Amino acid sequence: MTNKRRVIIFDTTLRDGEQSPGASMNLSEKLEIAQALVDLGVDVIEAGFPIASPGDFEAVRQIAQVVRGSTICGLARCNDKDIDRAWEALKAAPAPRIHVFLATSAIHREFKLKMTKEEIIERAVSGVKRAAGYCDDIEFSPEDAARTEPDFLCAVVEAAINAGATTVNIPDTVGYATPAHMGKVIRTLRDRVPNIDKAVISIHCHNDLGLAVANSLSAVESGAGQIECTINGIGERAGNCSLEEVVMALRTRGDFYDADTRIQTERLVPTSRLVSNVTGMLVQRNKAIVGRNAFAHEAGIHQDGMLKERTTYEIMRPEDVGFTQTDLVLGKHSGRAALADRAKALGYHLTGEQLQTVFEQFKLLADKKKEIYDADVAALIDQEIHDIAEQWSLESYHVSCGTGGKPTVKLSLRRGDQAITQELTCGDGPVDAIFLAIEKITGVEVVCRDFRVQAVTVGKDAQGEVNVEIEHQGQLYRGRGISTDSVEASAKAFLNAINRVAIRKGKPLHPQHSAVDGV
Ligand code: KIV
Ligand code: ZN
Repeated sequence: MTNKRRVIIFDTTLRDGEQSPGASMNLSEKLEIAQALVDLGVDVIEAGFPIASPGDFEAVRQIAQVVRGSTICGLARCNDKDIDRAWEALKAAPAPRIHVFLATSAIHREFKLKMTKEEIIERAVSGVKRAAGYCDDIEFSPEDAARTEPDFLCAVVEAAINAGATTVNIPDTVGYATPAHMGKVIRTLRDRVPNIDKAVISIHCHNDLGLAVANSLSAVESGAGQIECTINGIGERAGNCSLEEVVMALRTRGDFYDADTRIQTERLVPTSRLVSNVTGMLVQRNKAIVGRNAFAHEAGIHQDGMLKERTTYEIMRPEDVGFTQTDLVLGKHSGRAALADRAKALGYHLTGEQLQTVFEQFKLLADKKKEIYDADVAALIDQEIHDIAEQWSLESYHVSCGTGGKPTVKLSLRRGDQAITQELTCGDGPVDAIFLAIEKITGVEVVCRDFRVQAVTVGKDAQGEVNVEIEHQGQLYRGRGISTDSVEASAKAFLNAINRVAIRKGKPLHPQHSAVDGV
């Protein structure tokens, strides 16, 4: 990067991203993602919403305490209690930021907040001032800014900057904006807010119309200096602006935007994979930048062109976003060093102990499967190192079934020293029977909302990856399991989700999912 304008990347995977239904993460997962975001080169990490729950508070507190290399931000509504709690969580960070938000659009003023324009400005000013009493780096967001009257938006932004806001973030909370609209909002602020040069203008777009990335780029074109985004574009409803897409658009079209970011783009695929595995939210195959097909050329004419000159059909190189160039095949004669090498090339930093565990699983897999591809290695590592603390684990199962009768299942689970076996004749098929037996043993009753099986790689002996989504007491939980036996993978995925229920049980709902959404 030479003299290009540097755009700040503000990642909100751990806050807005976590608001995707079923995407909640536990403390160690959040710490791991925060570290991955530092490695990726993210400037600001929004670590959570400390007032939302004790779990959110603790995650922000620990990230502030141990993660180094990025600014750590915590969200707060515009009231003293939220702001004080956010500071309490953030105060150990060398570079803390408090992010205060208050809705400004007519719809939110009238129906949600029941406040006048004057009261909104007063509340915004007092919130920003309180936060500025704690630290220097203060972000203010007029929620639903894209639907706020331009004159009023300018007035609120001017007042917030005067009160001490150093970043003014313009959210398109409901994904209503279009690129031309968003560009105009940012230009209006730059033209009409007299103190606008005292703050960084930020953009925060939701993807309800599929325009979050385009709207964010348009805002940058009009002068925004910070983009708020998430890995894989996860977030409330249709999600947020996808980090990997917006960053690669700026990098690839640096000629047009004359701007760039600090992102280490070759970390994009490993980070995307990590977030997908932790949240259970699969990345669609044709997803730009990080999808499995993003660099696959199928048409003969394209393949021919690629062989003659890569740039005929490729605007980015796969290795620039973290896809490894070779899909080197490993097998049962491959040693620990070869596995360690592959893991490193795939972007994993394994401790000696983790490498040992993964190597043992690798050997077991190599007995069942002749060729082990990158995706197999990644799946093994993800299963071993991201497995949530297991309450229950699968010991063994046996199912007999066929057409015209109910399956019979004998299933054993282990929890600590205790092993429980259940024998049942029930269900519509082997997977259903196993799920019912697991529910019976664990005592957790759920409704299965989604069940997907896919092959990790190619061939008859490919490992099956199963992703399930279950509902328990109104909350969604996801689980993932892999095995060369797809019934066993299903059992593991279901248990993984049940274990998440056990961990989450008793924690309150996220305030933005519940009715607590005022000031
Ligand atoms: O979408 C939104 O308005 C938000 C704010 C809290 C910034 O997420
Ligand atoms: Zn948002």
